Amino acid sequence: MASTETRKPIGIAVIGFAGIIGRRHTAHVISNPSAALLAVVDGAPGASDLAAQLAPGVPFFQTVTEMLSTTVPDAAIVCTPNAHHVTVGLELADAGVHLLVEKPLAEAKASARTLVDRVRQKGVKLLVGHHRRFNPYVVAARKVLKTSDEKPGAPGVGLVTAVSGLWTTYKPDGYYAAAPWRRSRQLGGGPVMINFAHEVDTLQHLLGPITRVSAEKMRRRYTSEEGDANAVEDGAALTLRFESGAVGSFILSDGVVSPHNFEAGTGENPLLPRARRPRHGHLDDIDEIESEPVDVYRIFGANGTLSVPDMTLWTCGDKPRSWENELQVQRIELDDDPRVPFERQLDHFIAVVRGDIPIKGGPGCTGEEGLGVIAVCEAVIEALDDSEGGRVTVKVL
Ligand SMILES: NC(=O)c1ccc[n+]([C@@H]2O[C@H](COP(=O)([O-])OP(=O)(O)OC[C@H]3O[C@@H](n4cnc5c(N)ncnc54)[C@H](O)[C@@H]3O)[C@@H](O)[C@H]2O)c1
Repeated sequence: MASTETRKPIGIAVIGFAGIIGRRHTAHVISNPSAALLAVVDGAPGASDLAAQLAPGVPFFQTVTEMLSTTVPDAAIVCTPNAHHVTVGLELADAGVHLLVEKPLAEAKASARTLVDRVRQKGVKLLVGHHRRFNPYVVAARKVLKTSDEKPGAPGVGLVTAVSGLWTTYKPDGYYAAAPWRRSRQLGGGPVMINFAHEVDTLQHLLGPITRVSAEKMRRRYTSEEGDANAVEDGAALTLRFESGAVGSFILSDGVVSPHNFEAGTGENPLLPRARRPRHGHLDDIDEIESEPVDVYRIFGANGTLSVPDMTLWTCGDKPRSWENELQVQRIELDDDPRVPFERQLDHFIAVVRGDIPIKGGPGCTGEEGLGVIAVCEAVIEALDDSEGGRVTVKVL
């Protein structure tokens, strides 16, 4: 088989290129030697000027229909707001264009199902942009879990029984003012659909399907929104049950100032600074000392506990499992792949489009898995809407 570098690049269009995430995808497509940026599409005012600046010489279109009338790329990356993923995706799939659709796959599982079924009928490939699967911390955590021996006392985490997770941060008003869909329940906005969707995919990728949730809503920053059915949540305290029998708890909020979130913990998003904690007390210049990342997930097993992203594995080592024995600490190494997760994801998408890698069983999020994420998010929203903090069984369509 020829190496990717010697073969014809895959022609890619970026749809919704002018938004926050569209700009990042555009830059990665431009710098990828196995890709050719064939078109950028966005109907926003000023998008044409932005196209000339970010992608000089690349054809610009205001709509997908306009693009398809002259250019049919091999593949497209769909970076539009959540409620547009399916309409845009259907039009592209009907034209035979392979899809990488930003997460979540859709604003609701019914429309996600329509897209998943259509790509199957049309024979096009669909991946969902749950890029964290390509994050070295997630790759390393998954390796520990998948190679863990469940025999009592064996090295590793062993039988996973529980997980605790945090995604807590403060999004400024400007984030919502810049794109009002982000604060609309009907349009698939809010931290459950935008941010918890990442957590769901990460947790399901690591620990298998989530089958039941319960949720307690957090108090709101914007008291004016009380009683507004279309206003999104600020956050929630959640419990999760996994098909494996493991259980989980999760605090989600975009209305608190906190370093305990995946982006701050791993530093994976160039737009958001990394949070680090000094090893000993407060020091003025944190860069001068060895610091460690704040914790985001703890995965508890019968033989050990793995903490992510500080990648600490606590076990009893070669001693019997007991609270009387001093715990042994092992630091799990990350791989030394220099590519950022978006670059790894794009390389994977290109390999899938080329048929070099099967879509199922690989690291990428398939359409069915993306649909499964929305099913969990919808169950969370249903539980949040229950004033009794109800328990909801996850139903994938
Ligand atoms: N993977 C990640 O880490 C990550 C991070 C942020 C956002 N996202 C996802 O990316 C998507 C976009 O989020 P954003 O914050 O960049 O949104 P945004 O509002 O900043 O940008 C969306 C862009 O899409 C354009 N657009 C809307 N409808 C369109 C259409 N039909 N055709 C062409 N262009 C259209 C808009 O004009 C806008 O420029 C969402 O699904 C979001 O959940 C993913």
